Amino acid sequence: MNRVEGRDKVTGRARYAYEYPAEDVAYAYAVQSPIAHGRIRSIDASEALATPGVLAVLSSADPPALGSRDDAELALFQTHEVAYHGQIVAAVVATTSETAREAAQYAVRIEYDAEPHHVRLRTDHCGLYRPDKVNPAFPTDTEQGDVAAGLARAAVTIDATYTTPTEHNNPMEPHASMAVWEENGDLTLFDSIQGASDDRDTIASVLGLPPERVRVISPHVGGGFGSKGTTRPNAILAALAARAVGRPVKIALTRQQMFDVTGYRTPTIQRVRLGADAAGRLTAITHDVVEQSSTIKEFAEQTATPTRVMYAAPARRTTHRLVRLHVPTPAWMRAPGEAPGMWALESAMDELAIAAGIDPIELRVLNEPAVEPESGLPFSSRNLVACLREGARRFGWANRDPEPGIRLEGRWLTGTGVAASTYPARRRPSRASAAVEDGDFVIRIAAADIGTGARTVLTGIAAQTLGSPAERVRVEIGDSALPRASLAGGSMGTASWGSAVVRACEALLKNGAEGTADTTEDVESDSGFARHAFGAQFAEVRVDIDTGEVRVPRLLGVFAAGRVLDEKLGRSQFIGGMTMGLGMALMEETVVDERSGAFLNHDLAQYHIATCADVRDIEAVWIEEEDPHLNPMGAKGIGEIGIVGTAAAIANAVYHATGRRIRDLPITPPKLLG
Ligand code: MOS
Repeated sequence: MNRVEGRDKVTGRARYAYEYPAEDVAYAYAVQSPIAHGRIRSIDASEALATPGVLAVLSSADPPALGSRDDAELALFQTHEVAYHGQIVAAVVATTSETAREAAQYAVRIEYDAEPHHVRLRTDHCGLYRPDKVNPAFPTDTEQGDVAAGLARAAVTIDATYTTPTEHNNPMEPHASMAVWEENGDLTLFDSIQGASDDRDTIASVLGLPPERVRVISPHVGGGFGSKGTTRPNAILAALAARAVGRPVKIALTRQQMFDVTGYRTPTIQRVRLGADAAGRLTAITHDVVEQSSTIKEFAEQTATPTRVMYAAPARRTTHRLVRLHVPTPAWMRAPGEAPGMWALESAMDELAIAAGIDPIELRVLNEPAVEPESGLPFSSRNLVACLREGARRFGWANRDPEPGIRLEGRWLTGTGVAASTYPARRRPSRASAAVEDGDFVIRIAAADIGTGARTVLTGIAAQTLGSPAERVRVEIGDSALPRASLAGGSMGTASWGSAVVRACEALLKNGAEGTADTTEDVESDSGFARHAFGAQFAEVRVDIDTGEVRVPRLLGVFAAGRVLDEKLGRSQFIGGMTMGLGMALMEETVVDERSGAFLNHDLAQYHIATCADVRDIEAVWIEEEDPHLNPMGAKGIGEIGIVGTAAAIANAVYHATGRRIRDLPITPPKLLG
């Protein structure tokens, strides 16, 4: 299907959070800490308050009343302590955004007592500790079999450390909010967010309101990639500012502010050890991860979890260790866990294939597990081998040079690489309603369309269930007043919301007038199968022998992700993920300045993401997969799997092109030269 809101978007009729009109609206702008650790000694807002147009200054000099301070990233202006550079320490509210910004930057005088800060992740940091669980609720460590014995009896071993840098989500639409307090004390919040229901609950809890007194409206969202998966300080700031001045208040974060307060992907240091017998069968796998969180909140990424899923081995260990640094709290970024974890595991598998003299595809096929390695559960479906085989056929893998570093075309060394991909197929409880109004079907669910095409695919799901043309189905989403739904995250949107929409439509067909559904029981009774999508990523690269510049003339992804519900939307999700994987491989890195604790390259001029010119021949295909153990649509999530494995496929291709193994992302020219 074409996007049902496509015309609204290209004509500007689709409204984003910042674009809603309001009478007497005021604007807020955040003041951010210039120190990475310490304490506010004094705040002088007099000059700001004397500036024409300034309505209020919020700060810890006069802490606003909150209902909950549990989330320190959202409990604004409650303490004089500073936990990281760029933390929001005050805000100016004014009649224009320019006045608010000028006063915030030049007329609020804050003195600080700075203390030493630590912002660099190291494996020998004295603060290293073992979190109780990793995101969202996986065991921190797992161990099966005798790892030492498995490694000792291996004919071939790999022991290598792979690292990833801090990366930022960078959705096109900045985080933005408008808060409107109604006369009865209810709050309406226009927010750019991946889930209106959860956002509403969080905002209500922070402000100390019952959830039914808060309404979040969010029909169009210009991307999130996880950074809008949880409530961000801009929403709370808008609500507090509007309460302080008695007018609606808008706030839009600048691109530079987004780097500080909307989350990011933690850097990782990952040690992977693999042992294999002479035939290439794994005897042991270990994956030990070190990553960071802030001093005010724990976020522990589940980096090693794909290693619990991917390959058969009699012995396996996965661990996660965290260091609390004077940095903002990391959060979700597209395929948290799988994207960095599979970069390490799939790079190590390539190294093992070379060390063992086995084709990297055959090595993976050899180590296919009969059941999910960690849990022993049967897979609901697992077609990794089919993806590898189909990809090899389409990509022309059989013609690959047997040796690395031998194909020089002009100034370009060329090579190819492969890596596997995986992502969990999960669901969360959701509700939906279906009704007939003026002869059309109207579906209501508090789902979110963050650019994925959620509204469109739900329209298609409803139309198919109702046996109606799609033109007669209208889907209302993006409003917490609609039936409660899970967020657009974890690649769970379509599976979760679609299940509720199918059941609501079936109920409507039975009753005639209206149908409602709540999938809580259904989703919570899901058990007995390990459910994951799989894929195979193929890359061709060219490396300039003089400059070290890497180009990617060809990317192919082959996925097994259940039923793909819409070919056009599905392909967009896959190639979007692969494009982000290309950026992860070659460009994306947020540089931390150790002296100030600040992120240095905090804009799109200096934080490079893949653009059209970086992407040449990119294709995503999928194999037909029938999986009856998922949901009424037979679909697995596809929002995140596209990024998983791409960076490893490119790094493996760089090795094949040059004979140089890069274990530290991104693969920039200096790492290849010299
Ligand atoms: Mo996505 S990182 O699961 O919001």
